[in-house]
Amino acid sequence: HRLAVLISGSGTNLQAIMAAIDSGRLDAQIAVVLSNRADAGGLSRAQHAGIATEVLDHRQYDSREAFDQAMITTLDRYQPGTVVLAGFMRILSALFVRHYAGQLINIHPSLLPKYRGLHTHARALEAGDQQHGCSIHFVTEELDGGPLIAQAPLDVLANDTVDSLSKRVQQREHLLYPLVLQWRAEQRLELNQNGVMLDAKPL
Ligand code: GRF
Repeated sequence: HRLAVLISGSGTNLQAIMAAIDSGRLDAQIAVVLSNRADAGGLSRAQHAGIATEVLDHRQYDSREAFDQAMITTLDRYQPGTVVLAGFMRILSALFVRHYAGQLINIHPSLLPKYRGLHTHARALEAGDQQHGCSIHFVTEELDGGPLIAQAPLDVLANDTVDSLSKRVQQREHLLYPLVLQWRAEQRLELNQNGVMLDAKPL
């Protein structure tokens, strides 16, 4: 199963996916890592492992659609079966989302539908939530609003800070993403008109 991984930052989820492939837990290959930032730490992780990388700087394009079309053109050369958003910090246009409908997956650091968007750990702490975590979902045109695939919850501790909480959420992210991608690799997970299907049953 061919993955395209899109990043903007440090790429710890990318690293976790690479480790899962190396250890045989994930039967897939990373065909390409694409970043909108040339300084994304994840690019060097990929390059060290001999994985193809592409940088497309969104600031060089006149519109979101022009940038997204350039990404589509680039990514399609690698024929990805799943396009994996792993800390990719650009909002995707309908053009992009429709092109990869049913193939586009995101991880988000909250228990969706709570806390779409940014600063999720601070918002969970401020709200006094007893539980927090991460979610993986198919991407639709609604930001952080697509159909849920899996969540990993954890208890918020009395002395948690944004730092301590985000670290524990990230540990869950690094476990959960390879699991979900293995379902894709086994062709057990898809999105169709009935919603998210796991082993052809509605999730
Ligand atoms: C993760 O917390 C992910 O949930 C969010 O962006 C962060 C990416 O971290 N969408 P990394 O680049 O994988 O370390």
